[in-house]
Amino acid sequence: MEIQEILQSYEKDLKKVEAILDENKRSYVDLIPDISSYIIQSGGKRLRPLLVMIASDLCGYGGERRYSVAAAIEFIHTASLLHDDVIDHADTRRGKRSANRVWGNSASVLVGDYLYSKSFKMIIDDGDPRIQELLSTATVLMVEGETAQLISSGDIAISEDTYLSIIEKKTAILISAACAAGAVLADLPENRSTSLGTFGLCLGKAFQVTDDILDYMAEEKDFGKAMGMDLKEGKITLPLIRALAVCGGEERNRVGKLVRAKELAEAEIREVTSLIGKYGGIEYALEKA
Ligand code: FPP
Ligand code: MG
Repeated sequence: MEIQEILQSYEKDLKKVEAILDENKRSYVDLIPDISSYIIQSGGKRLRPLLVMIASDLCGYGGERRYSVAAAIEFIHTASLLHDDVIDHADTRRGKRSANRVWGNSASVLVGDYLYSKSFKMIIDDGDPRIQELLSTATVLMVEGETAQLISSGDIAISEDTYLSIIEKKTAILISAACAAGAVLADLPENRSTSLGTFGLCLGKAFQVTDDILDYMAEEKDFGKAMGMDLKEGKITLPLIRALAVCGGEERNRVGKLVRAKELAEAEIREVTSLIGKYGGIEYALEKA
């Protein structure tokens, strides 16, 4: 089954989630709905809301609560992207200028804060302590993951385990929470939500590894951002971690120098890409995903 078919079969449900997102991004301060709409309607896949729907169906829950829980999770995700683009000094997201480039860092941080706070109001209003526990734990871990990544920035000695731990926290944990929420909404015992959470964690890690592979492969017109952005941001991801583990000392030193450079030319990015190619970094990461 193709993802498009799945999306089609959940079209009505996702429209309900969309309506809740719309309603909750309202504010008398125009900048809040302006920036929120800009990023929310920029072509996101709604992967997390979709997973809440699929997981809750799997567990036998089709009630209304799943829409507000899915919307709250999408708000957490959106807030994290607004903040992430400030942290990464990003210029583009999903093929458009990133919000920080259009409105500046302060506005992006504040609207991220608004959506993040709003998501917690929605979860409190939902009233289920198990959902509150799930999502508050997830956001704590997301911030830890993003901070761990910041500290490892430019570190060519980063291990595969450290990388996996970072992506588990910054990306996979929220996808995991979306899956686990399905079982919680259906009021199933804890072992069921834990199992779905474990599935989501694996899916989320595969998702981030793939995103990191695409960073070295995809053209901007297809992927919405330029090639080699992770390297420019000092992020050493799995394809390069693999190449660094097997390449020679001189090649390693050269990568270290490039990673520490303030600016990277296209030719230098290509140099790293071909090193990754030489040592099968893409194939290795794909296999891992
Ligand atoms: C994108 O990663 C960013 C994330 C997966 C998570 C960002 C998390 C935070 C900023 C902390 C949590 C914040 C809140 C408000 C809960 P990436 O930079 O590798 O991918 P990209 O290419 O999409 O930017
Ligand atoms: Mg980023």
